Amino acid sequence: METARRTESQLTEKGYVPVYTTAIVEQPWDSYTDADHAVWAQLFERQKAILPGLASDEFIAALGAMEMTADRIPKFADLNPILHAATGWELIGVEGLLPELEFFQHLANRRFPVTWWIRREDQLDYLAEPDLFHDLFGHVPLLMNPVFADYMAAYGRGGVKAHGIGSDALVNLTRLYWYTVEFGLIQQKDGLRIYGSGIVSSKGESIHCLQSDAPNRIGFDLERIMRTRYRIDTYQKTYFVIDSFQQLMDATGPDFAPIYTKLAAMDAIPAGDVLDTDKVFHRGTGEGWLNDGDV
Ligand code: PHE
Ligand code: CO
Repeated sequence: METARRTESQLTEKGYVPVYTTAIVEQPWDSYTDADHAVWAQLFERQKAILPGLASDEFIAALGAMEMTADRIPKFADLNPILHAATGWELIGVEGLLPELEFFQHLANRRFPVTWWIRREDQLDYLAEPDLFHDLFGHVPLLMNPVFADYMAAYGRGGVKAHGIGSDALVNLTRLYWYTVEFGLIQQKDGLRIYGSGIVSSKGESIHCLQSDAPNRIGFDLERIMRTRYRIDTYQKTYFVIDSFQQLMDATGPDFAPIYTKLAAMDAIPAGDVLDTDKVFHRGTGEGWLNDGDV
């Protein structure tokens, strides 16, 4: 274990450039300041208050089961026995973004990397990279769900494989992660709900993704998602809706190698497009969309 540093993207003449680090660190819990705990408390309370009726039942149940509370930043060492008993996953502390292969290998082995440091008070609504709030509040609760936990580990194995196949395969697989793990919606008996971590850790997008007329909400379709570009600097133009975590698991079970080959000959789909073949829950008005900038 090394001493924990805080690794943030660097502002250059090309904009923010991510910095990658491979270190696994002990969560330096005693080094959190009162201001750090206060940022956690504000974000936690704000999201806890709005998420009933927006986030999936599984997410809300898991938050309670994990015993995360507003009063202080959780200790990974306290969460780990609970998480491990439920699904065999454990949290490991990291300083920031990991190189892709390392990230996939951790997931494949049921280790979820959590950034140890938390954003500053002036970054409550947006920052350019994952921090402790996004990773812990956004990603970790659903790792308590056995089916979703298996999906994440399968994704890690699929990532190691795609990494060996090539960069186009990785682009396809990353879009799947983006539109499920980070920005996924799920159909519940009583309506659409959020399960994506990029949404549940953002107040603005939690409301926008379900209540705004601007974005498309479209039924999950594996190959369609793998072809769809996305946004990293604005709310998503399109969200994809699963019926259940089991659907996600089943759809991603087959070998992706032939799919990567097939998709290599096809064009990417702009983030906001709706196709004739889409199962449309809601066709977005496109209000406020920027014309360029899809990744
Ligand atoms: N079945 C995929 C493959 O063969 C692996 C995978 C599973 C990828 C779940 C993503 C999610 O590559
Ligand atoms: Co994330």
